[in-house]
This record gives sequence, C-alpha cells and structure tokens, in this order.
Amino acid sequence: MAKPDRSDLVVVGAGVAGLTAALVAAAEGRSVTVLTKGRAWEPSGVEHSTSTFYAQGGIAVVEPDNAEDSVALHLADTLAAGAGLTDPVETEPILADGWAAIAQLVGWGAEFDRGADGRFLRTREGGHSVRRIIHAGGDATGARVQEALAAAVAEAPIRVLDHAVATQILLAEGRAVGVEYVTDGVRGVVAASAVLLATGGLGHVYSATTNPSGSTGDGIALALRAGAQVADLEFVQFHPTMLYVPGARGRRTLVSEAVRGEGGVLVDVDGRSVTEGVHPLGDLAPRDVVARAVTAAMLRTGAPHVWLDLSPVAEFEKRFPTVTAGVHASGLGIDDGRLPVVPGAHYLCGGVVTDGDGRTSVPGLYAAGEVARTGLHGANRLASNSLLEGLVMGRATARASAAEPAVPIGDVPSLTALPACDRTALQDAMSSKVALDRSAAGLDEVAALLEAAPVRRLDTAADAEDANLTLTARAVVAAARAREESRGCHYRADFPDTAAVGVPRRFRFVDDEMVAAVPIG
Ligand code: FAD
Ligand code: SIN
Repeated sequence: MAKPDRSDLVVVGAGVAGLTAALVAAAEGRSVTVLTKGRAWEPSGVEHSTSTFYAQGGIAVVEPDNAEDSVALHLADTLAAGAGLTDPVETEPILADGWAAIAQLVGWGAEFDRGADGRFLRTREGGHSVRRIIHAGGDATGARVQEALAAAVAEAPIRVLDHAVATQILLAEGRAVGVEYVTDGVRGVVAASAVLLATGGLGHVYSATTNPSGSTGDGIALALRAGAQVADLEFVQFHPTMLYVPGARGRRTLVSEAVRGEGGVLVDVDGRSVTEGVHPLGDLAPRDVVARAVTAAMLRTGAPHVWLDLSPVAEFEKRFPTVTAGVHASGLGIDDGRLPVVPGAHYLCGGVVTDGDGRTSVPGLYAAGEVARTGLHGANRLASNSLLEGLVMGRATARASAAEPAVPIGDVPSLTALPACDRTALQDAMSSKVALDRSAAGLDEVAALLEAAPVRRLDTAADAEDANLTLTARAVVAAARAREESRGCHYRADFPDTAAVGVPRRFRFVDDEMVAAVPIG
C-alpha cells in the first residue's frame, strides 16, 4: 500500500455540513481533507453532487429580535412535525445556535434576500406557525449557500479531493482512523484523527427523487459496515410537490413548499382542494400529512398527479426562478398557471446516530447533515430545518473532533466485492412497496430481494454505489418492518394507528444481519 496521506480531520462530503465543518476546523489551525463525488462548486450547467446546491425554500431560523418568534416556538413546531420522535433535549440547542451559524455563513459571504428595511425577508412553509424561513435568490437558497461555502473553502488551507468516492472507513484499535477512496479507478487512503461523514441522503433508493444522482446512501452503508448505529431510517420524507413528468426517473425538479407559503393551492384534477378537512393548517400542514393527502387525491380521481395552482402567487417567475427553470428544463411550461405535481422521495429523517456534538457510536467517527440522526427530525422533518442542522452540526463536529487522538492506521484490507442488487430492480421495488404506503407482505418481499443480492466485484464507482444502495435499502426495510404502527413519514396499511408512545429504534449491521442495537431506545 502507498503511504497514506494524513490530516487531522477527513470530511466525506462537500455540502453544507461538510464544508462548514471543514472551514471551522481549518480556522482552528487543523489540517483538513475533503472528499467529494463531484466538486465543491461546479461550473454553470453541470449537475451538482450536493443536495445543498438544489435547496430552494430556505433556512428556518429565529431572528433574536423578532417579537413574533422564539426558539421555544420553533421547537414547538419542530416537535409537532416530528410526530412524537423529535428529541427536545437534543433539538433545542441546535435551533438556538441557528442565528450564530447564519451570522458565520454571512461572514463567509452568503447573502440572503432582504426587504427595503434591510432585514431578511422571511417566508412560510409547511408546519411553521410563523414566517421564519430566510432565503436567497428567491428560491436559489441552496445554490447561494453552496457558492459561498465553496468560495470560502477555496480561500482556506483545505485540501479538496474532487471526484474521490469514499469506499471504506478504516478502523484500528476500535476507532475510525481514516478513509479509503477511489478516484479515476485509483485507490487512495487518508489517515486522520477524526472522520466526518457528511454524505447527504439516499433519494436514489427510489426511482424518482428530488436528490442529485450521488445521493445513494453511501454514508449510511459506510457507517453500518464500520459498526455504527443507525436509527429512524423508516422515516423517509416524501415531498408533496415534485414536478410530475410521465415515466421520468432519477433526479426530478422540486416545486418548493414556499410556493404554497406564498399562496399556491393544491387541487385535484376535478378542481377540489387536496387538503380541505385534513388538517387545520390545510396546504401548509406538515409534509407527511400533505404528501398522504396528495396520494389520496390521486387515488380518488385516478389521475397520475394533482395540480398546484400558481395563480395566487405574485410574480411567480421572479420569486421562484429555480422552479421556473426546472419546469422549462423538464419540457413543461407555466403559462396556464398550474403545475402537475406528485409526492417524491426527498429527505432521510433518520441516519447515523450521533450525540449533540456529532459523535457516532464508533470512536473517532462523526456524522453531520442529512446522513446523521441527531434527534431533530423525529418521524418527519419540519421544512427548512435541514440546512440549519447542517450548518449548526458542521460547526459542532468540527469543534468536538479536535480532541481525537492520532492513532496509527495499520494494514488496510481493500474491499473488492460486496452484495449489490441491480439498481433499477431495487428502485422499482422500493418505490412500489417501501414508499408512502407499506405493509408486512410488501416489506417481506423487498427484504427477500435485497438479502438475495449477488456479490459483485467493485470495479467502478457505480458498483460501489449499488452496494451502498443495497445495504442502505436493507436498513430502511428492517426499520420499516420493525415499526408496527403508522407515524410521521412511515405509514403501514396493516398498522394504520399510531402507538401511544413513540420509540426510536437503533440498528447495527452484524454478521450480515441488521440487528436491533441494545439499548433499543
Ligand atoms: P449534501 O449537500 O447532499 O452533500 C453530500 C456530499 O457528500 C456531496 O458532496 C457528495 O458528493 C458527497 N458524497 C456522498 N457520498 C460520497 C462518497 N461515497 N464519497 C465521497 N463523497 C460523497 N433543506 C432545507 O433546509 N431547506 C430547503 O429549502 C431545502 N430544499 C431542498 C430542495 C431539494 C431539491 C433537495 C434535494 C433538498 C432540499 N433540502 C432543503 C434538504 C437539504 O438541501 C439537504 O438535506 C442538505 O443540503 C444536505 O446537506 P449535506 O451537507 O448533509 O449533504
Ligand atoms: C422546499 O423548498 O420545499 C424544500 C424545503 C425543505 O426540504 O426543507
């Protein structure tokens, strides 16, 4: 093996969580290496590898001098959306640190939309009782955040390895000591005192998703193979309004919830309200409620989509340029003032279990952003709490990981083959049996498919992704089978009621089996 590079911190992922952590650690004088499947910033027209870039609605944050809002109110909204599984003790400090994290982001160059009085403009999204979501470029919030972070990283003493796919977390003396990666078919190793997983979500476990193509659950799979605990993986959030294009697969255009925050209305193909009588907040109910109402309307009418009526939204194209561009790129128009929309796989509420500083159950291994399960999102994430969490937890993990000791890396056995399903078969099975409507029979069927995955040589990055999709899907299915109730994003047709008490369930991957971790809570 070639002599490994060494850094104090190796970060896997160049989205909001990874780049924030890298900047904070580098500012403390630590050496940092960032690995990314894509690049921290891509030229115009190139597909980005981060969900961060594609974020639209904004960042939920309480302005300290806003008399209408408070951290307590933001916490209450987050707990209500989380359907009994959001942990208030872990959540309150994340929300409370939001304003300081935004101030630091602004210091790195991010600009948010402001009104004539110079204050941030704020919009509303599902589940928020007040307007507290700041945004940039109308609905280009993620692109502006990614651009600012990438520019700051380019100015900092941070090494970024582009197109470097992490394939294994290296362990020695029971702790994470580095990362193996592959770039252009060549294997490399970064040894480090601390490893941070900031790999984002798993949208491509499903056939159509709002996520970029690299969201293949890699961080979940890497963590499981390293022995880390995961939790709440059954809670995959489906966004109620993904643009409907018949037969389309892969990354699809999102139509921001902020469109409804600015007046947009969901109607079925017969013109009836989708959410009337479903929830007091109507079209701005929490996301799980609206996604199920959209599905119910489609079943009721037999149509493959519902309509999002844009006519009440003032200056739609100016306020929502990202959505407008996505609609046109999909070959559709907005001239008749409505868009066809369906629920689409959007966000993983659970993930690798961490404490409030991003520590996982494996010493030296940290997780932040969408890949992590801090306890903030519970059974259903409150809209626009994700960028906030990435910023806050990126800062926290950078600081906490400074205390990790440097441990020699030892021998690095390479992973040459892993079980991997055919990607299309896996996505189709997950979309039909493990999406918004689940039952024991369907879950058993998909579990059998995944467990029978043939072992495949890991010749290409796509092979490694398929293996990660397979293991991550196994973990989602195991969690969904274990939860014999309906709660938040997880609906079981065979157990439609919500249990009196919600219990988070942790799993580990042991001897090729997904097993409940002890303690289970
Ligand atoms: P990401 O930004 O997804 O970055 C993941 C990084 O990990 C990438 O650099 C990727 O290349 C890298 N990576 C993955 N696997 C590997 C590997 N094996 N090796 C090397 N690198 C790897 N949230 C909000 O709060 N507000 C919003 O308005 C909002 N809008 C959204 C709109 C869309 C269309 C989408 C998809 C999501 C939206 N979200 C929003 C959710 C939010 O954007 C994401 O949850 C968040 O950006 C995730 O940030 P992250 O840093 O965890 O991961
Ligand atoms: C959106 O703009 O609707 C996405 C917001 C989010 O996922 O938090």
